[in-house]
Amino acid sequence: MCEITAVVSGKGGSGKTMFASNLACVLAMAGKKVLLIDMNSGFRNLDICLGVENQVIFDLADVVNGVCSLNKALIPDRRFEALYLLSASQNYNKAKIKAPHMKKICDILAEKFEYIIIDTPAGIDESWQASIAAANRAVILLTQEFSAVRCSDTIDSKLRENGITKRYAVVNKVRSEYSVSGFFPGLAEISESLRIPLAGIIQEDINIHIATNNGVPVVCKADSYICKNFEKMCSRIFE
Ligand SMILES: Nc1ncnc2c1ncn2[C@@H]1O[C@H](COP(=O)(O)OP(=O)(O)O)[C@@H](O)[C@H]1O
Ligand SMILES: [Mg+2]
Repeated sequence: MCEITAVVSGKGGSGKTMFASNLACVLAMAGKKVLLIDMNSGFRNLDICLGVENQVIFDLADVVNGVCSLNKALIPDRRFEALYLLSASQNYNKAKIKAPHMKKICDILAEKFEYIIIDTPAGIDESWQASIAAANRAVILLTQEFSAVRCSDTIDSKLRENGITKRYAVVNKVRSEYSVSGFFPGLAEISESLRIPLAGIIQEDINIHIATNNGVPVVCKADSYICKNFEKMCSRIFE
């Protein structure tokens, strides 16, 4: 069975794209067949994170518009044979991707891949609804802010309404001084506020920022503390 996981958050900049790309790479490093789908129409950036921006000829909108076959739009990763990307269009108006499109496309792709990881747009509008339509799992990314905790609760309710039962939270950009300062919610407080399990935390780290911006997901540096952390989160999410 194919695990279809949506990476979501109420706010932009929480680390969805960073997390989706690294989770996919960890699975690919373990020999799994993985597809990343970028659902950020008009604002795609998974191609940049993976360093395949020059390889994007066809995208999801082309598939929906019947311009190309689904296979033609699958972009192979540069490092891992078993990892592919289905990119969003850079043109917001090229096609409105609706929930039935996603269900049909994921149904076909589930025959070919063991894991599909979907990088969703922030918020809960129609395009977000489409991006989670085929998912059976979700990971909510949030930062150490009170507003992010509240947004996560709202988005968690939406996921539940959509029948997604396996839901996890990941706190990103964590800094130890935030927790002790009293100005920001601590990790225990965040964990208690959310109704779902924490799959892990990710520290704010310049290496993650550099990697994301340079087309080399940070977990590609095997044996680093970040890679080990991602492996642990991955095993909790797919246990
Ligand atoms: N743990 C982290 N440490 C340092 N920088 C991070 C971390 N997570 C994400 N970033 C940076 O924060 C920015 C937003 O991350 P991104 O994944 O694009 O968020 P989103 O997809 O939720 O909008 C990017 O520039 C990324 O490099
Ligand atoms: Mg993003």
